[in-house]
Amino acid sequence: MAASLTPAEILNSSDERRVGATPLVTLTLRIRRFNPQVSEEPWWDEFTIQVDPYERLVEALHQVKWHHDGTLTFRRSCAHGICGSDAMVINGRNALACKILVKDVAPKVTIEPIRGLAVLKDLIVDMEPFFDGYRAVLPYLVNDEETERERVQTPQERERYDDTTKCILCAACTTSCPIFWSDETYIGPAAIVNAHRFIFDSRDRAPRERLGILSEKTGVFRCRTTFNCTDACPRGIEVTKAIQEVKRAVLFDRP
Ligand code: SF4
Ligand code: FES
Repeated sequence: MAASLTPAEILNSSDERRVGATPLVTLTLRIRRFNPQVSEEPWWDEFTIQVDPYERLVEALHQVKWHHDGTLTFRRSCAHGICGSDAMVINGRNALACKILVKDVAPKVTIEPIRGLAVLKDLIVDMEPFFDGYRAVLPYLVNDEETERERVQTPQERERYDDTTKCILCAACTTSCPIFWSDETYIGPAAIVNAHRFIFDSRDRAPRERLGILSEKTGVFRCRTTFNCTDACPRGIEVTKAIQEVKRAVLFDRP
């Protein structure tokens, strides 16, 4: 039926989700601020703007920064849920600002930096402890065997770790974990997810090395299976399940 419509008709009959097609709504953003050059203590600011309800929250933050307070600081890049830069605590839950529609949080939204990492400024935290954990698990394929062709694997072997290939390193999982909040030395869900991605890859030759790292006291057995990580993951990765699979691999000394 749609094939018989002209392009103009398709545009006119198309959904109201087109930016600019719907009336603007009022959105108040309550944002936790911090700037060590201004104050040693954090504070809250509120900004009320008019914005398209089908815009993403990251665009509302842009509007605040560009038109109300240029000092507001936050990370973002792709605006499409791919780069993992803009994880924040939005109405109490970890999420990517670019994956939240304004209409789903209007008329008021509270935005804070992700927890468990030192705040550098406003919504920007120090990600180094997070990436230390990631680097520690050798997050790359290890295989020095000579080969004259590509390293093949069956669809079933590929499927084994498919879920954990989707990680974008946004840190939403790790910074939703109460164990990580109380002990920054815990390697954290994201590092375990990225270890899982290679431990269960049939082409990799260093699974035992990773399992050894994850069996240490900062490793996988610090997890108390609260499922916060799975709830927080914007990519829908079954983080807790991956952690359980790694625990089993450590216990039985095999992937
Ligand atoms: S597992 Fe999910 S929540 Fe954790 S870093 Fe990767 S994409 Fe983000
Ligand atoms: S800006 Fe890239 S994931 Fe949101």
